[in-house]
Amino acid sequence: MSSPKIYVVTGASQGIGLETVRSLVDLGHRVLFTARSQGKVDHAISIIMSSHPDALVEGYAADMSLQSDIRKAAAEMIAKHPVIDGLINNVGTWMSNHHLTKEGIETVFATNHLSYVLMTHLLYPALKRSGHGRIVNVASNAHSYGKINIPDPGYSKNYHGLRSNGQSKLANLYFTFELDALKPDTNISVYAASPGLVKTDIGLKHTNWLHTLAWKFRRRKGQTPSEGSRTSVFCATDPSVERISGKYWESNKVKDVFPSAKDPVLGKQLWDRSNQMCGIGDYFKERG
Ligand SMILES: NC(=O)c1ccc[n+]([C@@H]2O[C@H](COP(=O)([O-])OP(=O)(O)OC[C@H]3O[C@@H](n4cnc5c(N)ncnc54)[C@H](OP(=O)(O)O)[C@@H]3O)[C@@H](O)[C@H]2O)c1
Repeated sequence: MSSPKIYVVTGASQGIGLETVRSLVDLGHRVLFTARSQGKVDHAISIIMSSHPDALVEGYAADMSLQSDIRKAAAEMIAKHPVIDGLINNVGTWMSNHHLTKEGIETVFATNHLSYVLMTHLLYPALKRSGHGRIVNVASNAHSYGKINIPDPGYSKNYHGLRSNGQSKLANLYFTFELDALKPDTNISVYAASPGLVKTDIGLKHTNWLHTLAWKFRRRKGQTPSEGSRTSVFCATDPSVERISGKYWESNKVKDVFPSAKDPVLGKQLWDRSNQMCGIGDYFKERG
């Protein structure tokens, strides 16, 4: 077993995130995770404890579509753990209808992309204090059909669930590549990890009847959530890939991205727009 480390996993009340927590505690690591409410935190802890009674696991209640909740959870984590070894940005949602958070941002963009940008910014100082910090962004082959809409990332005029999902998963890749290119620290690596098709409830929660039916049909071919967590855990922990930063991974191997993810100008525009939407001035500057 590798020496115990501290990992953060977002969106871990069920699905791939919960299994990511389980795999990390199985390797002997301490895991801090977020879930939407205290009830969901408690439920996830009881599930983990039933298979791993000695697990070092801490839950933080946070609605990851809200920047105020993300800032609070990150501050609490850093106050307790000034050194963090890995962050797995896993939280994700799929919505059939256009929906704004109470902070006025379209919910899928806020959850699937902006939470990754903000959480990484806030935990970056703690990751930097690790021997070698790793950031894993859970992405998807759905980036193939994504289009980044810089002026209207919430697709307020022509929203569709596929459009918002494709955009957010493409944004995960551009964020990974831009972060890798701009980060000033050599002891930080960043990975985009595709879990493949996984049999979870993601398409059953905020979907209309047609999308629910389509997901029920499609997910039958999916892997288990535990199998879906493998690439994230591999990128976050495997010694052999510690310094391979800025790549897209699937099934524990580097994979080429679709042409939609190969526009560096768009990557830069998205970086600036996302920082502006999160109220971030200097991304790598430690807050006082
Ligand atoms: N399943 C697939 O085939 C597949 C394929 C490619 C990529 N992915 C990616 O894998 C990641 C995990 O998805 P999954 O399939 O495991 O879905 P899931 O089972 O629905 O898990 C998503 C997790 O995120 C949480 N979450 C969503 N919105 C949240 C919010 N605003 N605040 C706090 N927690 C929130 C969910 O909690 P609640 O239930 O409370 O919302 C749940 O714990 C996502 O990034 C997804 O895009 C999945």
